[in-house]
Amino acid sequence: MVRIGTLPMRLLALDYGADIVYTEELIDWKLLRSFRRVNDVLGTVDYIDKTDGTVTFRTCLRERNKVVLQIGTCDAARALKVAKMVEQDVAGIDLNMGCPKLFSMLGKMGAALLQEPEMATKILKTLVDNLSIPVTCKIRILQDVEKTLELCELLASTGISAIAVHGRTVNERPQHANRNEVLKAISSKLLIPVIANGGSKDVQKYSDISKFKEVTGCSSVMLARAAQWNCSIFCKDGLLPMEDVIKAYIKIAVDCDNSPSNTKYCIQNILLEQQESALGKRFLNSQTLEQICAVWELSDYCCSKRKEFEEKGLQGRSQVSPMKEDEVQNEDQVSNKRKFSGEEDVVLMHCAFLRNNYLTDLELPFRSVVTVDGRKFGSSFWEKNKKWAEQGAALVCLYSLGLLSEKALVTTGNVIS
Ligand SMILES: Cc1cc2nc3c(=O)[nH]c(=O)nc-3n(C[C@H](O)[C@H](O)[C@H](O)COP(=O)(O)O)c2cc1C
Repeated sequence: MVRIGTLPMRLLALDYGADIVYTEELIDWKLLRSFRRVNDVLGTVDYIDKTDGTVTFRTCLRERNKVVLQIGTCDAARALKVAKMVEQDVAGIDLNMGCPKLFSMLGKMGAALLQEPEMATKILKTLVDNLSIPVTCKIRILQDVEKTLELCELLASTGISAIAVHGRTVNERPQHANRNEVLKAISSKLLIPVIANGGSKDVQKYSDISKFKEVTGCSSVMLARAAQWNCSIFCKDGLLPMEDVIKAYIKIAVDCDNSPSNTKYCIQNILLEQQESALGKRFLNSQTLEQICAVWELSDYCCSKRKEFEEKGLQGRSQVSPMKEDEVQNEDQVSNKRKFSGEEDVVLMHCAFLRNNYLTDLELPFRSVVTVDGRKFGSSFWEKNKKWAEQGAALVCLYSLGLLSEKALVTTGNVIS
C-alpha cells in the first residue's frame, strides 16, 4: 500500500506472522533514477533517488525471501530494467494492474492495464522470461465475469507464478461489497495460485482470514487495510492492543531510520479516530522521530539508537550529491519533468532541510526560492514536499546573509562542507 508498505510496516507484519509482504507501488522511472547503496549502519540496502537523496526503496536481509516489490509501469523494457536492478534484493516482482488513481490511469499504468491486455501480457512475459525470481500481478475484477475469467487466463498464460485479485471493479469503492463469488470462479478456473484480496472489512480476527480463504477458494489471502489498521491481525494468538502495535511499529521505524513523515502517516492510519484523544493530539503536533517516540515513552530507545547510528557514521541525504534531471536523463534514465525555473540568478547551495535538527518550530517562508532585497536563494535539493523545499531555501538564505554560520550547517548535517 502506498506510504504504508514501507520497510517498518513490512517487518512488523512479518514479526506478527505474515508469510509474504509487498512494497508500496514503486513507479518504474522513480526506481530507475535511484542508485543502490548498502547501508552498513542500518543493515539495509537502500535505493536512493539521485535527484533529491531521498530513499525510494529500503529493504534488508530479514525480508529478502519474503518481500515482493510491486512496480507501476506501462512499458516492458522499463519494467525489466527495474526488475533486473532489484532482482538480487527481493523475493518477487508484482505488476500493479489495479490502481484506479488518476495518476496511474493517465500514465497507462495500474488499472489502465486491465484495458490493455496486450501490453500487460507483454510486460509480464518479458519479466517472466528474463528474471530468476517469481513474477505476479495484482488486478481488479471487470464488470463482466466471463471477461474477467478470460483476462485471468490470458495473464496466467504468460507464466506468472500467482495472481492477486481484488474483488471490486475499477469504479467500485471500499463501501461496495467485495465480489467473493467472482474470486471463487477465478480460483476454480485457474491452475496457478490465486490470492484473494478485498476482504479487510470482514476480517476482524485471525480466524476470519481462513474464512475469507474458504469462501473464495483461493490459495492465500492478501490483507491491506486490515493490516494497516492493526498489523497484529496476522498473529495466530489474536489481536494485540493498538498501543502495543504502535510501540512495536515505532521501535522498528527507529531501527530503520524511517522518515518522520512516513512514520507519522502510518501511525495516523492506526490511530484513526483516536487522533482526537489527548494523546492523539499530542502525537499530531509531533514532527520528528524523537517527538513521536516521546508520546509513547520511547525517548530513551530513540536517543540510544540515534547515538549508535551517529557513532557508526549513518549517511543521510546530505551525503548524496543531487543530480539534475537532465544529468539523470543523460544516463538514459526516464524521469518526470521538473524544472527549476530561473536557476541562473538563484544562490544555490547543497542544502537539505533535516527536520530532526530542528526540534522547535521554525518560522520559515513557504517558497522554494527565497527573495531578499532582490536576491534569490534556493537549495539544489529537490524536497519531498513544498514546505521542506522552502525551508531548505531559507537555510541557504540565512547562511548567505551571514545569519547562520557554515559550521552550524555542517555540524548539524544539513549541508556538505
Ligand atoms: C491507502 C491505500 C494504499 C494502497 N496502495 C496500494 C498499492 O500501492 N498497490 C496495490 O496494489 N494496491 C494498493 N491499495 C489497494 C489495496 O492493496 C487493496 O487492494 C484494497 O485496499 C482492498 O483490499 P483490503 O480489503 O484488504 O483493504 C491501496 C489501498 C489503500 C487504502
